[in-house]
Amino acid sequence: MITTESREYFESHQYTSPRLFTSLRRVEENYRTIASALKHATCFYAVKANPHPEILKRLNAIGAYFDVASRGEIEQCLAAGVPATRLSFGSTIKTPDAIAFAYQVGVPLFVFDCLEEARKIAEYAPGAAALCRIDLASQAAKWPLTAKFGCAPDDLLEQLPYLRRLNLTLEGVSFHLGSQLEDVGEWPWALAEAKRIVTRLRTEGIEAPRLNVGGGFPAPYASFTGGLERYCQLVAGALEDAFHDTPVTLMCEPGRAVVADAGVIEARVALKSDRRTHNGAHWLYLDIGVFNGLFEAYSEGIQFRFASDRPSGDPLSPFVISGPTCDSVDVLFEKKPVDLPAGLETGDRIFILDAGAYTTSYATIGFNGFPPLEQIAA
Ligand SMILES: Cc1ncc(COP(=O)(O)O)c(C=O)c1O
Repeated sequence: MITTESREYFESHQYTSPRLFTSLRRVEENYRTIASALKHATCFYAVKANPHPEILKRLNAIGAYFDVASRGEIEQCLAAGVPATRLSFGSTIKTPDAIAFAYQVGVPLFVFDCLEEARKIAEYAPGAAALCRIDLASQAAKWPLTAKFGCAPDDLLEQLPYLRRLNLTLEGVSFHLGSQLEDVGEWPWALAEAKRIVTRLRTEGIEAPRLNVGGGFPAPYASFTGGLERYCQLVAGALEDAFHDTPVTLMCEPGRAVVADAGVIEARVALKSDRRTHNGAHWLYLDIGVFNGLFEAYSEGIQFRFASDRPSGDPLSPFVISGPTCDSVDVLFEKKPVDLPAGLETGDRIFILDAGAYTTSYATIGFNGFPPLEQIAA
């Protein structure tokens, strides 16, 4: 959505290059929506989705917890005033230096998905609390988190005797079904599998094992119209169904759903070409593409919505949307052209909606000389 705050900002500040305006009010609302629907879970905001200092400060001010992926993200949180005790080092791929740094500043929770990473945690964060990430990834996610992460649940069970001998405190398991998981029907099977593992951990003496259900909560892109609150209520219901008779300590790690619809990008049409594709769509080249903010449109995974200043009654025409660089992967929507006003011209303003997640954090520093995406958060 084009928030009133973003419109005011764009109208009152001269345009030089694509910019993302993120509404802190909306970020806070989204965090509260998730946290209150999943009221039995501690809600860790996944910093990677958008680490702008003002976002971290705003969430810190309401007592939020944070999931971090690197020493850099830990430092960003500390600089925003977040106490280290409210951080979880959720990446399964951590350098020894990063683990030692996290431990030294007081980060209390670490995640691993293989024995070698567990050994590293035991060595560089001796005695620390740890979760094992199990692979419950769903191919239904629009931005899947594939086999790169998570061990097979049964491998964890086999390795338990060995893990027990390491100098770390195994507290439970984590999983992430995949980002932008719109089909809430994917949750029950994953929770049933998580319950099987958690039940076994209880027999090993972990009384209320920690269960981190990850992120994946969907943002309102073109492909999802279900509403965040409703989705979270359905997940809460699935959690209740699965765990009403099994005590667990729940946590979740939403990133995208907290920030996506708080952000809107203002960009320009760099070129409206008279060339057409074989199915008759014009090429519309923007001054933003996969290298300066819209990486997730690559392969058309995330379906951003677009708007323009043209009157709403203007006839629409299909456009292939492309970025401005000299690289042919820098095409945003070709298989599924986007309907926009036929009268659009070079220089026209374009808004990219729900663009607050994984845009500034995925942008390059200046491929082809195009500046990285600027962000204002207010
Ligand atoms: C470990 C971990 N937690 C949380 C998230 C946030 O996921 P999402 O933005 O889909 O909510 C991610 C995303 O990649 C992740 O890797």
